[in-house]
Amino acid sequence: MHTFQPLDIKETEFNPFNLIGSDWAALTTSINGKTNAMTVSWGGVGVLWGKNVVSVYVRDTRYTKELLDEGSNFSLTFFDPASHSKKSALKYLGAVSGRSEDKIQTAGLHLHTEDDIPYIDEGITVIKCKQLAHFSLNTEELPEEIRKQWYSGNNEGNNHTVYIGEIVELLAR
Ligand SMILES: Cc1cc2nc3c(=O)[nH]c(=O)nc-3n(C[C@H](O)[C@H](O)[C@H](O)COP(=O)(O)O)c2cc1C
Repeated sequence: MHTFQPLDIKETEFNPFNLIGSDWAALTTSINGKTNAMTVSWGGVGVLWGKNVVSVYVRDTRYTKELLDEGSNFSLTFFDPASHSKKSALKYLGAVSGRSEDKIQTAGLHLHTEDDIPYIDEGITVIKCKQLAHFSLNTEELPEEIRKQWYSGNNEGNNHTVYIGEIVELLAR
């Protein structure tokens, strides 16, 4: 088990474009005895309702969505971008569904839970979030180019739900 330190969010250099968009994160959640993690490369950090928040965008087909829809808290775990084994683990979490197996274990990862929020022990940075809200995107309102690219073909009807989590703590190893 690794030791993590809390960081002051206002003192941290945190580039979401690199961390989420390029390095990717494990979105980890747990409720009623069910736990799962999936890879995300879309997401945001910012301020909403006067609180520091994370937003993640999860398609209807994901097992993770079932857990989040029950109101589960969640975290984003970021890994050392230079580690090939961690990138492989993220590829695994992003390819297999937690409906059929304990992906976290198969990927060789371990879970910590604090404040009812699970995260991955092998991470180097973690954002712990308390779920505040979720809502489905209205794809009808999107520009046609985006609708075509992201919600047609195999993804016809496979909408994204936006989950907003209040940042409870930012941790670093
Ligand atoms: C790099 C990468 C980024 C991904 N980003 C997202 C994302 O932001 N939202 C999403 O719904 N799925 C995303 N996925 C796909 C899910 O991680 C994948 O479908 C996963 O197997 C779902 O797992 P689950 O069914 O256990 O929830 C991504 C996959 C990869 C490899």
